Amino acid sequence: MNTKASTDDFFASIAAKSDSGALRGDYTHADERFVVAQNWDAYTPQQHQLWRRLYERQARLIPGRACDVFVESLNALDVSDGIPRFDRTTEALFKATGWELVAVPGLVPDQTFFEHLANRRFPVTVWLREEHEFDYIVEPDVFHDFFGHVPLLFNPIFAEHLQEYGKGGLKALKLDGLAFLARLYWYTIEFGLIQSPEGLRVYGAGILSSGGEIEYCLTNPAPRRIPFNVERVMRTLYKIDSYQETYFVIQDFQQLFNDTAPDFTALYQKLKACDALPADTLLPAETNLIVA
Ligand SMILES: [Fe+2]
Repeated sequence: MNTKASTDDFFASIAAKSDSGALRGDYTHADERFVVAQNWDAYTPQQHQLWRRLYERQARLIPGRACDVFVESLNALDVSDGIPRFDRTTEALFKATGWELVAVPGLVPDQTFFEHLANRRFPVTVWLREEHEFDYIVEPDVFHDFFGHVPLLFNPIFAEHLQEYGKGGLKALKLDGLAFLARLYWYTIEFGLIQSPEGLRVYGAGILSSGGEIEYCLTNPAPRRIPFNVERVMRTLYKIDSYQETYFVIQDFQQLFNDTAPDFTALYQKLKACDALPADTLLPAETNLIVA
């Protein structure tokens, strides 16, 4: 690809979307796949300390809220002590599911993102938020990307699904289906809930790395909790500046894999002819799962 032109297009699209236009990371050393060196030695003691506090806060909230496979993988990762070294995690991850982590300066273009996933590479942002962003951050940082996403990459079915999602993303770019596929990612990989014998649990990284939404999504009576349905999810707008108004609940990761396996070409065509649904929609036939 023409790196310079595609990078310029990427920054122009960010500028158009975000008003202020600046991305946080340092992209000057990124290669054509937007990969950089993690440069682990450059993290300061204060940054490791901030990581430890973020980790401790989330680790306290995880029991009984996150799904079991997340908890088991997080514990096995053993990264409570400071910002982890991506190469060490990759060693274990590659053995488990054939995935590797790649360091990136921050958000990357859609095509680049999908290419990474389709090749079992998960992009992890290198920089950590600052103290005043402890509770809320606009762009994903290393804490969100690592703590929220990496543990589930150790689960074979989820790992397989994420690779298929990447391949689907590359197809969607050609089919003008990106908006629909982005909603799928949002309502599953970022904000998904899963049914367990003990009750609802969280598997979405956006929730798992959030100090407030992890409790809200499970117990607050306000949001809707609806059984997962691909077409419904792809029709539904989402909120980026507040807690979600609707969560979609999968039975297990096999359902997520199976239901998203078919080719979406015909579905994209159908969805283009429909109006999108507001984030707080509850259709007449839908069951809003009651929480305790
Ligand atoms: Fe994320």
